[in-house]
Amino acid sequence: MRILIIGHSEISPMRIWLTFLLLAVVAGLQADIARASGQVWGADYFPNYELTAHTGEKLRFFDDVIAGKVVAINFIFTNCTDVCPMETARLVDVYRLLGDRVGKDVHFYSITIDPENDTVPVLAEYADRFGVDGANWKFLTGDKRQIDQIRDKFGLFGSAAEEANLSNHNINLVLGNQSTGHWVRRSPFENPYILANQLGSRLHGGKFTSAYTSRNYAEAPSLRQISAGETMFRDRCSSCHVISGGFAPTRNVRALGPDLFAVHQRRDPQWLRRWLAEPDKMLAEDDPVATALYAQFKVIMPNFRLDRNEIEALIDYIASETERLRRSKLATGDHAEYQPDLGAGVANRAGH
Ligand code: HEC
Repeated sequence: MRILIIGHSEISPMRIWLTFLLLAVVAGLQADIARASGQVWGADYFPNYELTAHTGEKLRFFDDVIAGKVVAINFIFTNCTDVCPMETARLVDVYRLLGDRVGKDVHFYSITIDPENDTVPVLAEYADRFGVDGANWKFLTGDKRQIDQIRDKFGLFGSAAEEANLSNHNINLVLGNQSTGHWVRRSPFENPYILANQLGSRLHGGKFTSAYTSRNYAEAPSLRQISAGETMFRDRCSSCHVISGGFAPTRNVRALGPDLFAVHQRRDPQWLRRWLAEPDKMLAEDDPVATALYAQFKVIMPNFRLDRNEIEALIDYIASETERLRRSKLATGDHAEYQPDLGAGVANRAGH
């Protein structure tokens, strides 16, 4: 399954998105890569190549990275302006949900598929942008051919044509328990609660169910009728953005992107629509607002290939959520308007 299909312009992206979700569900059912055959992939299956972590540590892929562990592994490259920052962001959600268990009984690894560019200092900066603690989540680089072989062992190495363009790389995450031989591939678009549950409980044979789920299912959003815009926001935007205005409860951690409260009012409408359609292009063109935001957040906002309807649905949702929060704020008698912290030098309304 490749994110590439979303970019296809002749068919409605929404329909492709739905197809993609359906495929993801089906693939999820079929994704138990190794367990069905009853075998445990060991040192005879996985190569033991040496990799270097963003912390400078040398780690052997089999002995140090996966042997006897429950792991989450994704393959990334830091120059990616396409959907890949979303992968890391979603994994950050999962990482936060698992809390202090990460690094103890669940281990996180991101392996670069572009080691020539992604050197140790580049990866160290990338980990820092996502607020990742290097003791618990390692970003790894090494020899390109060896890394490709590791990907191949997980069935994540594409055809020559796909590999020629790094943006087409397979976006799946691999979750697994090396000692039981249970490995699954998951889409990074999957709900972080489900991914966290997989890592925290199912891959441990259910051992941790009660300790883990009681806390996190209580935090999971309750079911109610939600609009297309809200669904899209949750699936694709909420890993990096809140809509809060300092009023809605937010996770007590640094967000990866700006608070979108009232963003439809503080930005020029055309600017906002173009930004949602092609943020990578605007950054490449040195758009002043985009550049100033990037200087502050240092994470690249992904290009989701959103079509017009999707963009309007998202803006409608942001607008209605902003109004809902304003009303509930006024109801408490607090009339002060929220002043978003936009960082130095970022003008409120883009002049176009
Ligand atoms: C991987 C993290 C990430 C994801 C996912 C993401 N964004 Fe962003 N977004 C950012 C960052 C970071 C910025 C600041 C500009 C930059 O650094 O590229 C930003 C900027 C913005 C802005 C401009 C904010 C302002 O103050 O002007 C809007 C609007 C926005 N994003 C909307 C969205 C929407 C809608 C989605 C979902 C479809 C989304 N973003 C998904 C990271 C993300």
